[in-house]
Parts: sequence; C-alpha cells; structure tokens
Amino acid sequence: MSSAEDQKRAVGEAAAALVEADMVVGLGTGSTAAWFVKALGARGLAGLTCVATSQATAELASSLGLKIAELGETRTIDLTIDGADEIGPGLSLIKGGGAALLREKLVWEASKRCVVIGDAAKQVPLLGRYALPIEVVAFGHKTTADRICDVLAEFEIGVAPRLRVTDAGPVRTDNGNLIYDAACGRIEEPAALGAALKSLTGVVEHGLFLDLADRALIGTDGGVITVEP
Ligand code: 5RP
Repeated sequence: MSSAEDQKRAVGEAAAALVEADMVVGLGTGSTAAWFVKALGARGLAGLTCVATSQATAELASSLGLKIAELGETRTIDLTIDGADEIGPGLSLIKGGGAALLREKLVWEASKRCVVIGDAAKQVPLLGRYALPIEVVAFGHKTTADRICDVLAEFEIGVAPRLRVTDAGPVRTDNGNLIYDAACGRIEEPAALGAALKSLTGVVEHGLFLDLADRALIGTDGGVITVEP
C-alpha cells in the first residue's frame, strides 16, 4: 500500500507534466502543492512565469529558480495546480488548511484552468468532515465569530467556530487576518452556506471552492487517477 506522502508526490509529479514551457502557472500551497513545485522546478522551463498563492510557496519556488510574478502583473494565468483538504462531489472542495485560502481563491479565480491534486484520503462523498477554514479580519473577530455561529445554526450546523492558534498564538495569514475553523461535520448546501458566510462583514473568505476545479488528480494505491467534475 502506498503512503499518503507517496501519493502526494505522485500527483505533484503528474501535475508538473501538464505544464507547458511558455505558460503562466498558478502555484498552490501545502505539502502536495510543494511536491508539484519541486517537480516543476526540476523541469527547468526557462520561459515559465509563476504566480504563488502564499509567501511560503513563493519562497520555495524562488529557491528552485522559478520566476515569480504578482497576481495581475502577468497575462491571464493558464493553469493553476493546488492541493485541497477535501475533494467532494462535482469537485467541490474544502481548502485553507494551510491558511492560504484567500490568495488561493484569488489565483484560482484568475486562472483559465485549475487542477486539484490530492492523496486518496482527500476524496469524500460529502464535504464537512474537515473543519471549514474561514478567514476573518482581526478587528472585532469575536463578534464576527458569533455571527458565523448564527449562520451555521441557520444551516443546522450546531458548532462554534474555533480560532486557529499555535503555541506562538493566533495564526495570522499572509494578509494579516485570522482563521476560524468550523467543524461542520456535514455540509449539505455548500453554495448557500458559502454565500451566507461571505455576506458577513468581517469575513474575508471561506474555504469552500465550488465550480472552480476543472480536474482532479488523485493518488491511489493503483497510481494516479483523473476525476472530472
Ligand atoms: C492551503 C491548502 C492546502 O492545499 C490544503 O491544506 C492541503 O494541504 P496538503 O497538501 O498539505 O494536504 O488549502 O491553504
């Protein structure tokens, strides 16, 4: 049986093979996306321009000799490759485990094509087992969290979102915001829930990525499989 790390590496390498020499490429964030970035760096494509979804990815890519541009400073991104925390029906996704959801969504939405990559454990029949990350502005964040709680209750999700913290204190995103994680359990109406969360003042973005992925590459014991929405 292949390990999750073997599968992440396999899909990262398979995704790097999709990149053509003169493309503008969006680079995702996380351990799976890092395998992709390393495989892309190893191809040594001199004509490539990359747009990173986080500071960490930009640093990794630069260290490998990849040319990094800011979002909006290039022509349209041809292809973005990124990981996910859950890959659900119709390639609906939960993202943001690495706290990069805002930049990820900005880059995904600016891309002609997006391919999500993940190990087999990421594929789920229904979104929600992985806690949904929600990026909020720091000012008044406890009030915003109460309002998120009210919205979750409207969707019969009876949990309080939890502020993401490490030993060093609350996690700050690359944008200086905070992350709340909502352990929803089951998300029956992801589009409606996403819209309701996004309507709250103080919520910057949520980790539901819907109708954005054009294809998934999933690592399995039998090799990499392709899933279309
Ligand atoms: C970062 C993300 C990542 O893509 C997601 O957390 C998956 O990470 P990994 O590849 O390490 O399992 O959304 O914000």
